[in-house]
Amino acid sequence: MATKQKKSVKKVASKKAPAAQYGYFDDAAKEYVLTTPATPIKWCNYVGTLNFGGIVDTTGGTLVCKGDPALNRITKYIAQMPCSDFKASTIYIRIKEAKGYKVFSPFVVPTLTKMDKWECHVGLSYMRWIAECCGLRTQVTIFVPTGSNTLLQDIQVTNLGGAAKEVDIIPVYEFSHFEAEKQLTNADWVPQTMTLKGHWEKDGHVVLEQYAYMKRDYAVNYVTANCKVGSFDGDRRVFLGANEMGSWAAPLSLGNKELSNSECDRGDNIAALMIHGGKIAAKKTFRCCTQLGQEQSLKVAAKAIAKYRDLKNVDKAFDELAKFWENYLSTIQVKTPDASFNTMVNVHNPRQCHTTKNWSRYLSLYQLGYGTSRGIGYRDSTQDLMGVMSHMPEEALVLTKNLISVQRPEGNAMHQYAPLALAEDNGNEANAGDSREKAGVKDAKGNPMYADWYGDDHLWIILTVASYLKETGKMDFLKEEIPFYVAGKKRKDRPKGTVLEHLKRALKFTREHLGKHNLPLLGFADWNDCMNLPLGAESTFNTALYAKALLEMMDIEEALGDKKAVEMYKGWYEDVKAAFNKSAWDGKWWTRWFDKDGNGYGVAKAKYGKIYCNGQSWPVIAGIAYGDRAKQGMDSLNKLLNTKYGVKSSTPGYRGFEPAVGGISTYPPGAKENGGIFLHTNPWVMIAETILGRGDNAFQYYNQINPASKNDILDVFESEPYCYPQNILGDEHKQFGMGRNAWLSGTSTWTYQAATQFIIGIRANYKGLVVDPCIPSKWDGFEATRKFRGATYQITVKNPKHICKGVAKMVVDGKEIDSNIAPIFTKGTHKVEVTLG
Ligand code: GLC
Repeated sequence: MATKQKKSVKKVASKKAPAAQYGYFDDAAKEYVLTTPATPIKWCNYVGTLNFGGIVDTTGGTLVCKGDPALNRITKYIAQMPCSDFKASTIYIRIKEAKGYKVFSPFVVPTLTKMDKWECHVGLSYMRWIAECCGLRTQVTIFVPTGSNTLLQDIQVTNLGGAAKEVDIIPVYEFSHFEAEKQLTNADWVPQTMTLKGHWEKDGHVVLEQYAYMKRDYAVNYVTANCKVGSFDGDRRVFLGANEMGSWAAPLSLGNKELSNSECDRGDNIAALMIHGGKIAAKKTFRCCTQLGQEQSLKVAAKAIAKYRDLKNVDKAFDELAKFWENYLSTIQVKTPDASFNTMVNVHNPRQCHTTKNWSRYLSLYQLGYGTSRGIGYRDSTQDLMGVMSHMPEEALVLTKNLISVQRPEGNAMHQYAPLALAEDNGNEANAGDSREKAGVKDAKGNPMYADWYGDDHLWIILTVASYLKETGKMDFLKEEIPFYVAGKKRKDRPKGTVLEHLKRALKFTREHLGKHNLPLLGFADWNDCMNLPLGAESTFNTALYAKALLEMMDIEEALGDKKAVEMYKGWYEDVKAAFNKSAWDGKWWTRWFDKDGNGYGVAKAKYGKIYCNGQSWPVIAGIAYGDRAKQGMDSLNKLLNTKYGVKSSTPGYRGFEPAVGGISTYPPGAKENGGIFLHTNPWVMIAETILGRGDNAFQYYNQINPASKNDILDVFESEPYCYPQNILGDEHKQFGMGRNAWLSGTSTWTYQAATQFIIGIRANYKGLVVDPCIPSKWDGFEATRKFRGATYQITVKNPKHICKGVAKMVVDGKEIDSNIAPIFTKGTHKVEVTLG
């Protein structure tokens, strides 16, 4: 059936955009090219993976970790320092002059030298700077070769013309203690243990070895270059000079021909290398490459060191990285009439999904990765995984299994785990998140006031596992045995269950934790971390997530052929649907929570927080709304929560701290969960609109938050235009439209799912590849390529009647089929022609 839709999204006045001031998208190179270092706030990119890698900011600062940002950090990047300050790494270029030297950094920071030309290319897991200054062009590329434990810095200095110039190149890293938080909180033990040694090789190469004393025999960091080195410094005090009255902007040691070859037996460990580029003639280039790595020992590192000392291998590694991305992105490519949709869907959004899959909410310029109070979030990563499931299902499976292994035998899950502790099997890898802090709070009668578990965590994994099964068809995964989490016990001593059993216990946990209205309990919090109502509160978000998980479970059981189980879960679904409709409808929209006394939150009569976004979108996603209520809820959302910069999570915001509601009221109105545009909620609105068949609405919601479209309003938005931030300030705030907390947000996975699976409408299921678009009615159609279970599907969708949704005809390899599910082929390239009507 075709669904035409009425225009119901509020019209937003559009101002004429000023010209972009900071940079532009180079779609052919799949880069964003920054043309000034003076970004409104710090911007960054990611290199490598969680196994080895981290953040590279746009002015050359690098935050590198191996396996765990909190427990195995390598470089000392202090994110709170001003943009203009040295942060963990830089390169100095030094030109010999008649008297002394001229020194500048191609990153601008920390010398702050004015450049004749400056570009920072934010690429797919690499950063490249092109800087022209003092008649030299410097090109620096930073990346981690795929699968390696090495950060490479490929440096090329070209004399642009005129007389030959004598040039030195001095790359520098500053090390952190491996326990990142200790570096900041302990100035006794930490410096006493930090050690840096220089190892000269016969041919003039040097390897600087760095470790915290206790790690000497099993985890050492090293810095070396492909070429001979004149000298080095390992002690920051010596390098900066005059007992650190010398600065990073102008290190005194750079006034001398050579550095001091200082080792560091304690103190602030750095690795500075003096690389003599010699006299570079006009139009000639000097090239060198540094390595920063971590291995068990220098002996183990020797192979990698030798490999990347050969520049041919450096080039090869860069090509391999490009191939990785080409292959990754080729899973889904679209060609629609909307250029900025194409840019996001084909490059930057799937790329961001790769980043959130790796770093969860652990390491960014906002989530600083100190201590283990964060970690890999259960709720966060289960959702992130769905954004990479089509591209790297087997890698996704590794993380999926880790998450399953921190589910408790009772069925609920630990809130987060520390990856290194998990790998070490130390019996204490997971924790209960913020809830553990409140778990001890008692009421006047001495009873606990808050739950020590979250109501949603364990339910997400059902969606994640279902997406793996649909993508791969590997149903046997359900039979694999994985332990449950019991604190203090080694994995071998914990009770085990099949994956299917884990999923069943998750549903059973919720089924057995219902409140007064027979709706799932909130626990310490649901998706909205900041609403912490005392014990006994119910959550309609958990209700809808539970219902959606039941739908997925019914499909799994159906695919397994267990009719009895399907019936049982159907019964549970109907029960919760009825309870929801009986109590949660407030008249024009859905209630969001009930406290233990049955008072509604997210209701018209409330003073603050009258209506919540997730409260309206999720009942549609879960299919639990009776009659017209689904549409009514979504229309109320549109009327009360939509703004030109996105949908607010609630309105109006609380006006001051209210201990009874907790975290949400710690923010001023319009910020984050308190009436801000918490972006993660927006793709759910898009998905709900596509389910209702309203493709024009869905697309407007998509465009409102598309960061690529904000490139012209960066003075308002401020955040990186090449990735979604977590939040944008809402219209109750003076800084309406300002984005914060870039990169690590569930917005990435869900907007990608909304775009590819619901707007474009191509999604895997147990029987094949579903094509069920819900597009803007003005589109004539679109084309897409999708790899699925070994085959490539070339899909063309035509929209002659200019509708939003409804497949009238599907032709696969020339034959009309009588559904909109293209069969599973396992190989070859197949043509799928779809006509809407
Ligand atoms: C943060 C948390 C996430 C939570 C969201 C909303 O992004 O990482 O788990 O769902 O805030 O409160």
